Amino acid sequence: MEIIRGKMSLEMDAGTLSTSISGCRHVLIDLGTGDGRFVRRQAEQHPAAFVIGVDACRENLRVVSRAKLPNALFVIANAQSLPAELYGLATQVTINFPWGSLLEGLLQAEHGLMAGLSAVSRPGTLLEVRLNAGALAEAGTSLEKGTALVRDNLLSHGFGLRAPAMLDINNLRNYPTTWSRRLAVGRDPRSVALSGARLALNNTSV
Ligand SMILES: C[S@@+](CC[C@H](N)C(=O)[O-])C[C@H]1O[C@@H](n2cnc3c(N)ncnc32)[C@H](O)[C@@H]1O
Repeated sequence: MEIIRGKMSLEMDAGTLSTSISGCRHVLIDLGTGDGRFVRRQAEQHPAAFVIGVDACRENLRVVSRAKLPNALFVIANAQSLPAELYGLATQVTINFPWGSLLEGLLQAEHGLMAGLSAVSRPGTLLEVRLNAGALAEAGTSLEKGTALVRDNLLSHGFGLRAPAMLDINNLRNYPTTWSRRLAVGRDPRSVALSGARLALNNTSV
């Protein structure tokens, strides 16, 4: 799979990744990571964890990926076609304020995205998805309808999720992603969090 370090794009195979991760009981994969601020913060705050940010766009990751954090990695990939090297690794997956094809994939239960989410997870893997009204409006739906659709799609693909929780300005301000901070001071901060976990096969409750 392709990883980025500053200006350099490199290939990393499953063996090298496995060596980097060895000993880490918690592996967080952040899909649509943007500028990588969230990954850097999580890696700094949880040195015993390994944090992997994935984004289709490499430009925004050049600055943060220069930092030499031993427990953080930035992968350039489309979330609809996640690299096999990530399969089965995540103890937690986050998708914070998706837009574009990542959001469309959640709204339409796009096969590649749903299959990838399942593939990187295992039973018990925590899932957190944060959605905002502006991105959903651009995708042609409302916060309420879009959230319900995304939740239903994830439920039918093996994730148990609690009822959506509204995020207020304080929640947004204190959540360490760039987009969260922007929403907190923007015109339409309405946002929700969906959280739950990957279920064991044949179990449909949280
Ligand atoms: C609104 S930004 C949020 C960034 C970050 N999660 C945050 O909270 O600051 C949405 C991100 O999703 C990424 N994205 C959109 N579609 C994607 C896809 N199919 N695969 C990977 N990343 C995608 C974009 O490149 C962008 O960085």
